[in-house]
Amino acid sequence: MAAEVDLDWLLQEIDVLAAISEEPAPVVTRVLFSEADLNARQHVKQLCTGLRLNLREDAVGNIFARWDGTEPELAAIATGSHVDAIPNAGKFDGVVGVLGALAAIRSLQAEGFKPRRSIEVIVFVAEEPTRFGIGCLGGRLLSGALRTDRALALTDDDDKSLRQWLHDIYGRETALDSVVRERGSYAGFLELHIEQGPILDRAGIAIGAVESIAAPATLRVQLTGEGGHAGAVLMPDRHDALLAGAEVALAAEQAARESQSRDSVATTGVFRIKPGAVNSVPFRADLEIDVRDTDLAARDTALQRIQSDIARISHRRSVSAATAILNQDAPAVCDPELLKTIDHSAAILGLTSLRMVSRAYHNALFMAQICPTAMIFIPCRNGVSHRPDEYASPKAISNGSSVLAEVLRKLAE
Ligand code: GLV
Ligand code: MN
Ligand code: MN
Repeated sequence: MAAEVDLDWLLQEIDVLAAISEEPAPVVTRVLFSEADLNARQHVKQLCTGLRLNLREDAVGNIFARWDGTEPELAAIATGSHVDAIPNAGKFDGVVGVLGALAAIRSLQAEGFKPRRSIEVIVFVAEEPTRFGIGCLGGRLLSGALRTDRALALTDDDDKSLRQWLHDIYGRETALDSVVRERGSYAGFLELHIEQGPILDRAGIAIGAVESIAAPATLRVQLTGEGGHAGAVLMPDRHDALLAGAEVALAAEQAARESQSRDSVATTGVFRIKPGAVNSVPFRADLEIDVRDTDLAARDTALQRIQSDIARISHRRSVSAATAILNQDAPAVCDPELLKTIDHSAAILGLTSLRMVSRAYHNALFMAQICPTAMIFIPCRNGVSHRPDEYASPKAISNGSSVLAEVLRKLAE
């Protein structure tokens, strides 16, 4: 018998989470450690308790909700995603993977299924890089990909460190070393997510079985020029940090456009200037540049080109440049057996499926370092994501959650 998820419950809970936002609907903004982020995590914990799952929260805020199997000594099957959201986001990114997992468990519970292996839902903290400039903070720490001393020293725009944030929230010094999970802690990890690209929607295919996840890197650039009076400093005397930054952003675009690889992309998503007054020459520009490719060598070539362009541009404009690579990750390859199980489960439900690449990153990128991992994608309208008009249809969500339920049943029985 194929699992039947309670779609009304799932859609209603998606709306409840969407309303927990720093900005009014349809915008969803839940930046790490905002009241909305903390409230959303609290709400999800209550849902987990309602499903009689055993709750645990680690030192950085990753939440683990376990449905104990009849042989609890076996490594568990893990699934999950995130509930934080970038500024001006929609309501499905991450949320479908968390609530879709809970709906899958609900349906398995309703039919009386008794897992042999435990099934664990993980709600990863801070998949989005908004506060600290680095994505998948929870997954990086859990997999051991990020050293705890480096993590604690990360700072946000107000120069407040992760160490300070954790101290303020938990009221004590936090021992992050305990977050890391050993290789083999899980028998497998599955992340259900909207595709965030147009392939499934255009092709009318219900399910994507993600074979690999593209390699992301983030470059932080601090340009310091010379400020001054917008009327009084004549053009030959200027060392305008904004204009140097503008050239850097264009150079990043060019590096991706002229890459040998079709999959190279570069985005200057953060660009802040000081002092930000119309009658003052900008003396400082802070940029963050996101560079990705499915091919590691092509990504690194683009990254190197951008760095040498920064040196050239800043020298020509007599502006000083400090750069830091915040992350430079390898791509992940998903587990062939899990992929077959996804294809098979989709087929049982009469759904079409397609093997594909994830161009967005996910906590699965890091879980793949400690256990067999795969992702289940569902279509989103026109591939739109990271925008308030992001949309996945009820049918698409129900398909994804049902496929996840089937996969979990197969792996846990
Ligand atoms: C995740 O949100 C990403 O930027 O890929
Ligand atoms: Mn996202
Ligand atoms: Mn996401």
